[in-house]
Amino acid sequence: MSTTTTTVQETTQNVASLKLRSPPEEEKKEPEYRYAHLLPHFSADRYPPLTPFEHVDPGSRALSHPNPREFLERATLVDEITPHLGTEVVGVNLAELDSRGRDQLALEVARRGLMVFRDQQDFIDRGPDFYLEWGRHFGRLHIHPTSGHPQGYPEIHLVYRDLKKTFNFEYDDAVTPTVWHSDVSYELQPPGLTTFFLLAQPKSGGDTLFTSQVSTLKKLSPPFVAFLRTLKAVHSGFEQAEFSRGGRRGGTVRREPVEHVHPVVRRHPVTGEEALYVNRQFTRRIVGLKREESETILKFLFDHIDKSQDNQARVRWRPNTIVLWDNRITAHSAIIDFGEGGEARHGARITPQAERPIPALDGLDLS
Ligand SMILES: [Fe+2]
Repeated sequence: MSTTTTTVQETTQNVASLKLRSPPEEEKKEPEYRYAHLLPHFSADRYPPLTPFEHVDPGSRALSHPNPREFLERATLVDEITPHLGTEVVGVNLAELDSRGRDQLALEVARRGLMVFRDQQDFIDRGPDFYLEWGRHFGRLHIHPTSGHPQGYPEIHLVYRDLKKTFNFEYDDAVTPTVWHSDVSYELQPPGLTTFFLLAQPKSGGDTLFTSQVSTLKKLSPPFVAFLRTLKAVHSGFEQAEFSRGGRRGGTVRREPVEHVHPVVRRHPVTGEEALYVNRQFTRRIVGLKREESETILKFLFDHIDKSQDNQARVRWRPNTIVLWDNRITAHSAIIDFGEGGEARHGARITPQAERPIPALDGLDLS
């Protein structure tokens, strides 16, 4: 017998040893998460108070363009989600929009409230330095006082939830985690055009709800709207800070909470449209009214926002979707209907601040 011939006995031993041998260490590891470098990091940094700045809205520059919707010319689909809120777009690579196209995008989002762009893997894979460059075109980037961010990139706000942990702002003692809000409306200059996308998502669920605060206002009677225009309300970040100080959502408060007074009806600086500007998450009281009056009016407005599905749109997150909304004229809520399967939902938000809300009623005193 040749020395290279394998006997039946040897073959049997080899198979046995293959079965018994443990796999090498590298085979045991889970495949590395593609966006692990963008997972939430909760630094112990402390930030000083935000300072006022002058915001020039990029959408205003597109008003003088011969065709302000030129950036959509190559789209293969431009589809209204509802008549008054939201447009879904296929065939436009946001990452390749130049300055002119970005200005047009800002104007279109101001007009439609919400835009959903599919197939944006190029944008997502360009990474955090690109996200910052993108966002700075639209305004000074907000740094969230409590949320997690990718290490070294505090301007990128992250949401994250999996089977074991959540870094979202939600209450587990409520019948629903749905909470309509406009992001960080407690700031003196809350965000304008906001970009958000998911890096990981459940197979189904985790949609986002949006509503048009322009439509919400239009449903109210003229005399009531005239009264609302005379009002201003306190928006507070204290409860959010306390939530984090209680050890939840990463447990970090890097900038002391603030509250600011905003008009109940604000005017968009570019379109001139009026929008209701109160939200259940951050609006606490109407200035100058008795407590019961304030509570009654706010409860009516919050309920009106909640139940008016005719003003709302719902976004399903197919992979590589980027959603942009104008935070001044819309409100939104996450839907937490997933998690039992252990799937993660990991999202990143780029949040440029805009102007101090402009009252619809000229001369309204906001001091
Ligand atoms: Fe939000």
